[in-house]
Amino acid sequence: MAYHLQDKVVLITGAAGGIGTACAKELYAEGAKLVLTDVSQKSVDTLAAEFAKERVLAKAMDVTDWESIKKVTSLSVSTFGKLDIVFANAGISWKESAYTVFNCEESEFEKIIDVDLLGVWRTVKSSLPEIVKNKGQVVVTSSIYAFTNGMCNAPYATSKAGIEMFVRSLRAELAGKSASASVLYPGWITTPLTEGVFGGDRLTTTMREIGFPHILRKAIPPEKVAKALVNGLKQRKPRIIVPARWVPIQLFRGIVGIFSDWYLSNHSRIQSLLLELENRTKK
Ligand SMILES: NC(=O)c1ccc[n+]([C@@H]2O[C@H](COP(=O)([O-])OP(=O)(O)OC[C@H]3O[C@@H](n4cnc5c(N)ncnc54)[C@H](O)[C@@H]3O)[C@@H](O)[C@H]2O)c1
Repeated sequence: MAYHLQDKVVLITGAAGGIGTACAKELYAEGAKLVLTDVSQKSVDTLAAEFAKERVLAKAMDVTDWESIKKVTSLSVSTFGKLDIVFANAGISWKESAYTVFNCEESEFEKIIDVDLLGVWRTVKSSLPEIVKNKGQVVVTSSIYAFTNGMCNAPYATSKAGIEMFVRSLRAELAGKSASASVLYPGWITTPLTEGVFGGDRLTTTMREIGFPHILRKAIPPEKVAKALVNGLKQRKPRIIVPARWVPIQLFRGIVGIFSDWYLSNHSRIQSLLLELENRTKK
């Protein structure tokens, strides 16, 4: 049966970012009420100004902070009377430059895991009683990095693979309660997160160009992710893969993974770019 988004209350983390903003607009157009959250109050206030006041709540919320999440979750329920969908979307990658596991800072590696993996766990856990009560939905923004080699992006890929399994487990656990959970797998999307690999950083841009076949190298705008998300929620899809060119890779991930792990380890140009990257960021 189709799941209608009209009057559904949706909490979004990372709402002020590229994918969060596009999804907020698309969900709003479907009639949903929005709880917009992000690290800065100003950023969510700016986004909220685009919507009717009675259909939006904008609150700063840091997904690394349990108290902040619990406060905003209960405020959402007291404002709108319920919470139907939680969209755990906030995510980060390296701050300045890409690193390898060998030369990254321990604290930066752990910060990425804290936001991208534990932040999703905290967000989902806090809203789960409401989602179950309302037979609602959990959706988390994973990535093609859940099944693609995470070279130069290890804490990010580790988190994306982790939240994929978190949601697959959760989906099975929720089935008997008539609630559901979905994994959103975006490919390359034109947002601030990917500016480095699309020209901002010569080394990682070249690695993307050599490391991915032509058809998988291109980026799409976040609005396409938003359309796929809405469509996926309406059908309670377990997996939302966008763009669709990544579907066969996800289906044949075992075989593709064996080949790509071998390719990256044995490609002399890629290996020399890795050394160059480590030299550039040597402490
Ligand atoms: N851009 C891509 O190509 C791509 C591909 C696959 C998956 N994703 C995922 O999509 C999600 C959204 O990313 P985006 O591309 O829109 O990037 P973005 O940088 O535009 O947005 C990320 C948002 O998360 C927020 N955020 C960061 N730390 C936070 C914290 N501790 N608490 C709350 N919010 C926090 C940021 O302020 C930002 O608004 C991320 O999970 C990202 O990993 C992006």
